[in-house]
Amino acid sequence: SAIEIFEPLSDEETMQLARQTERRMFAPGETIIRAGDEGETMFVVNRGSVKIQAPETADNNGKTITLATLHEGRFFGEMALLTGEPRSATVIAIEESEVFEIGHDAVKRMFEANPYLAESLSDAIAERRALLDANAEAKPETMEQHRAGIFAGIKRFFRLS
Ligand code: CMP
Repeated sequence: SAIEIFEPLSDEETMQLARQTERRMFAPGETIIRAGDEGETMFVVNRGSVKIQAPETADNNGKTITLATLHEGRFFGEMALLTGEPRSATVIAIEESEVFEIGHDAVKRMFEANPYLAESLSDAIAERRALLDANAEAKPETMEQHRAGIFAGIKRFFRLS
């Protein structure tokens, strides 16, 4: 209930989500997500911190670029889960970290009960995607285009009306 994106959920919905969540521990330096992999789960940092590393591109010739550091209460892995695309970045535990892993079915149920959650997640994804694109020097899209495209993609993927 302390996690910002899930705040709108009722107590019962939060309890239900918690029951469908797997608690996982990662050691310092351990990889949680590898860029390019398939993935159908998202994660929330309950204790510790993780770093988000941009995938290697021709432009950054093997250099590792950290796009963000996420602490307690922050989420990651939502992009592949919500859009069906491969993992966009590599995520590594900085310190010993406890994360909650939430599967596709639990997220789908949550969206069906709270459709506006898909919209607020689209905002977060649009921001993150803009940073990924800036790093890869992809053609710039405006945040608004991103947001609309991502929201449409989520609705399609989860067959929401
Ligand atoms: P996903 O693509 O499933 O797997 C890698 C995750 O890294 C991605 O979901 C996001 O949760 C996270 N991520 C990617 N880019 C950023 C960013 N710029 N800032 C914060 N998190 C990001």
